[in-house]
Amino acid sequence: MGGREVTKLRVNGQVHQLHADPGAPLLWVLREGLGLTGCKPGCGEGECGACTVLVDGEPVRACITPLSEVEGRDVLTIEGLEQRGELHPVQQAFVDAGAMQCGYCTPGMIMSALGLLSSNPDPSEQEIVESMQGNVCRCGCYPRIVRAIRQAAVAMRPEAVTGGVR
Ligand code: FES
Ligand code: FES
Repeated sequence: MGGREVTKLRVNGQVHQLHADPGAPLLWVLREGLGLTGCKPGCGEGECGACTVLVDGEPVRACITPLSEVEGRDVLTIEGLEQRGELHPVQQAFVDAGAMQCGYCTPGMIMSALGLLSSNPDPSEQEIVESMQGNVCRCGCYPRIVRAIRQAAVAMRPEAVTGGVR
């Protein structure tokens, strides 16, 4: 890496100081610079979704997002979901539904699903299918992925999170 210092790249709640070319792809910075290898390189052209992370809560394709675009913003990767040893409800739903085979697409699927559920907490099956269209699963686990997202939506309802206690 050469170039200038990026003073504020906030990833999973931690601020990092990085020396990197502002045009470097976020995917490369996360994997090579910070060792966060959960986001996967796939097509490299924004078409497969394997590299999806959230930036200020919105799913973005890290392979086509330059570092300069995320400076000072909140980046969330799959590594940031687990809290105190507990999987995030979306991660748990993917496990419970068996929504993976090789698992290569799974981090990107989960991050895209989380982005969807943040903006639409109770998506219909059709809405899930439409929203996840940009995420490719070469193993063809789509039906189980849709089921996992429906299960995650139920698990993330306020009454489920609080156990019905208000
Ligand atoms: S690797 Fe980024 S969308 Fe395919
Ligand atoms: S589980 Fe293999 S690509 Fe989706």
